[in-house]
Amino acid sequence: MDETKNLINNDFKDIMLNRHSYRKFQKDVVISREEISEMLEEAISAPSACNLQSWYFVVCDDAKGKEKAHSVMMPFNYPQVDSASAVIFILGDTQSHLKYRDVWNKACENGQITPEERDKVFKTFLPLYEHADRSFLEKDATIDGSMAAMQLLLVARAHGYEANPMSGYFFDKVVDAFGLDSKRYIPITAVAIGKPEGTFTKSVRYDVKDVTDFM
Ligand SMILES: Cc1cc2nc3c(=O)[nH]c(=O)nc-3n(C[C@H](O)[C@H](O)[C@H](O)COP(=O)(O)O)c2cc1C
Repeated sequence: MDETKNLINNDFKDIMLNRHSYRKFQKDVVISREEISEMLEEAISAPSACNLQSWYFVVCDDAKGKEKAHSVMMPFNYPQVDSASAVIFILGDTQSHLKYRDVWNKACENGQITPEERDKVFKTFLPLYEHADRSFLEKDATIDGSMAAMQLLLVARAHGYEANPMSGYFFDKVVDAFGLDSKRYIPITAVAIGKPEGTFTKSVRYDVKDVTDFM
């Protein structure tokens, strides 16, 4: 079976340089849960700090889910939320270190690393997280989640869709609205995905030399 059958665009230049935020989508387009899972699987090939993979996704793709997404959004985001095939909330898992052993045990079982290498990873990185304060854990999870979110924006294009990242929602409402543990999960961003209706507004960038120092 071809695991990447829905990756219909493999032109990186097009995927990256022609990505724009679309804020209105064709309402009747359904993206199957199978394809959404595929897109997320591709997105989580993203790097993460110490391979902690501190991300979590909530997919709102049916009427009930979309209503929930709408209920936490700021009104200026209603057009894209109400027309998208799916709105995917990317959350950060501040407790990802609790399951961290699993990923390295698996690598060890697969013969990818030796038990000694695995134990070295545990000794080096686990104490960092077990003794970390809340702000460190939140920052780490935010960076990991953002890496996956960026990949998701590009993956969406590779699947023939367009997207809009959105952080214009009520951060204090999101985690509770989805029935998740607010001590554990933090909102990072959300991505509306679908087939676009209408066009986008091309955004302007600062000159690269104004935002770069070579040393
Ligand atoms: C963290 C983040 C939050 C954003 N939040 C919103 C949002 O709430 N609503 C919206 O319409 N666009 C939002 N955007 C999209 C930006 O407005 C957009 O990326 C920027 O203007 C550049 O345009 P482009 O995506 O077309 O290149 C967000 C983008 C990022 C990265």
